Amino acid sequence: MKNKLKDFHHYKGNNLTRFEKVERKVIELILSSKVPDGQREDSVIFELKHASGCTQIARILAQKRKLNVEIADAAATLHDIYVIIHGTYKDHAKLGSFIAEKILKEINGFSKSEIATITQAVAHHSEKDIYSNNPYIELVKDVDVFDCSLYKGAEGSYRIHKPENIFKEYVKRIKKVRRELGLPQNDVFR
Ligand SMILES: [Fe+2]
Repeated sequence: MKNKLKDFHHYKGNNLTRFEKVERKVIELILSSKVPDGQREDSVIFELKHASGCTQIARILAQKRKLNVEIADAAATLHDIYVIIHGTYKDHAKLGSFIAEKILKEINGFSKSEIATITQAVAHHSEKDIYSNNPYIELVKDVDVFDCSLYKGAEGSYRIHKPENIFKEYVKRIKKVRRELGLPQNDVFR
């Protein structure tokens, strides 16, 4: 039995799946960023925390929703790739989808439909007030707001920077995820 066990690579070496290579690539891009915090809307530390948090939450939610865990993982990991590279949120979803496509093609091994699913989820993740019938787009939207809701200060930031109707959509999505995960419904920012 023991011989059949495979040790975990801890993201070292070449024995990674294509999806793990996506995770590593995104983290490498964050760690090697040449855009200093002073020129970023968010810090490099936040990008690192948010990308990693979203990856893991996507894996949990995908299991709850019976979706492909790896596809959900890749879409969530790549969702803010434009912000990671350029430091700004302007049109980041659409522009990020092109970068995501390039990364997926470079890593190799992804089918056309996998690339389409992942890049569509990246391209549309900012449309939090729209409820599409694409489960991966909706998953990335939910993962994004839920991860942010776990930071103290997210509520203030949302209230300052988002219109009231969009803020309500964020809360609606956070509540939905908390319900799915069996978490308390009051005080959704915690
Ligand atoms: Fe995000």
